[in-house]
Amino acid sequence: MRTCWYRPPAVRYNLGVTQSSSAAPEAPQGVDTEKPSAARVYDWLLGGTQNWAVDREFGRRVERMWPPIKPGARHNREFLHRAVRAALDAGIRQFLDLGSGMPTAGNVHEVVADYLADDERATVVYVDYEPVAAAHATLILERQNATEWAGLVQADVRDPDAILDHETTRRLIDFDRPVCVLMVAVLHFVGPDEDPGGVVAAYRDAVPPGSRLVLSHMTVGDATGEAAAGVEWFAAQYRHTTNPVWLRDRAEIESWFADWDVTEPGVTHLPDWRPVRELAPEEEIARPFAWCGVAVKPGPGER
Ligand SMILES: C[S@@+](CC[C@H](N)C(=O)[O-])C[C@H]1O[C@@H](n2cnc3c(N)ncnc32)[C@H](O)[C@@H]1O
Repeated sequence: MRTCWYRPPAVRYNLGVTQSSSAAPEAPQGVDTEKPSAARVYDWLLGGTQNWAVDREFGRRVERMWPPIKPGARHNREFLHRAVRAALDAGIRQFLDLGSGMPTAGNVHEVVADYLADDERATVVYVDYEPVAAAHATLILERQNATEWAGLVQADVRDPDAILDHETTRRLIDFDRPVCVLMVAVLHFVGPDEDPGGVVAAYRDAVPPGSRLVLSHMTVGDATGEAAAGVEWFAAQYRHTTNPVWLRDRAEIESWFADWDVTEPGVTHLPDWRPVRELAPEEEIARPFAWCGVAVKPGPGER
C-alpha cells in the first residue's frame, strides 16, 4: 500500500523569518542568516547543530509537507559512506569532496581514518562555498589534528579551475594518482544555464585512469502522480533559499559519467547501491527521489 504523504501547501511560506539567537551558533562573517541555506538545512535534517532558526523552521515546514526529506538525507549520507569505503577497497587514497556540506557524523576523512591502519595514509580535500560549512570543517580538522592530510577549500564547484589549482588541493592531491571525486547531492544546486555537464567534465578530465566519480542527484525518478508532485513542490521551496534545486532525469545524470565504467550495480536509487541494511518501512517513502552511481575512469587502451 502506498503511503499518502503529500499534502498541497495551504500557505506560501514566509522564509524571511527572524532568527532566535539563543540556540544559534555564532555566525562567521558573510553568513546570510536571513535565508535558509542547503548546507545548514541538511545539517538539521541529519541531527546536526550548525544551523539557525531560519534553517530549522524551513526544514520543519518542508518536512511537514514532504516527509521524504529526512529519510532521503540519511539515505544520501549512507550512500556517500558506502561509496567512500568502496573506493578505499579499490585502493584509492585521495578524495576530492565537492559540495562537502556541514561536517556531520561520518565525514569523509573520518570514514577514511576508521578504515585505514595507523601506518596507512590518505588525503581528503573538502570543497564548499557555504561560510558556516567551511568554517566548521576547518575547525574540526584543526581540533582533530588532521590538517596535514585533510583540508578545506572554500570555493564554488562551478569554478573547477579555482579548485583544481588551489594551493590546498595541490598540496594534498597528486593528480598523477587515482582520485575519488565526490559530487554527492551537490549537482542539483547547479542550474541548467550553468552547464552542469561541463562542470563535471572538467573534474573528469583532471584525474588519471583508475579515478572514481561518485554522483548522487535528486529526481522525480519513476515517481508519478502525487509522489511526483511532492518532490516538485519540494524543489520549488528551495527556489526561495540561497540554493535553488533542479530535478533531473536519470538519462541526464547518467550522461555525466560519459565513457567511464559504471560499477555494479549501476545507476540506482540511493538505498539500492550496495545496501548494507534493510530500510525501515517509514524510510521507503524517500526511495524514488534520487539517482546515484559510481564510475571508474578507464585507461587509454581500455576503450
Ligand atoms: C545537501 S549538501 C550535501 C553534503 C554532502 N555532499 C553529502 O552528500 O552528505 C549540499 C552541499 O553542497 C554545497 N553547495 C551547493 N552548491 C555549491 C557550489 N556551487 N559550490 C560549492 N558548494 C556548493 C552546499 O553549500 C551544501 O553544503
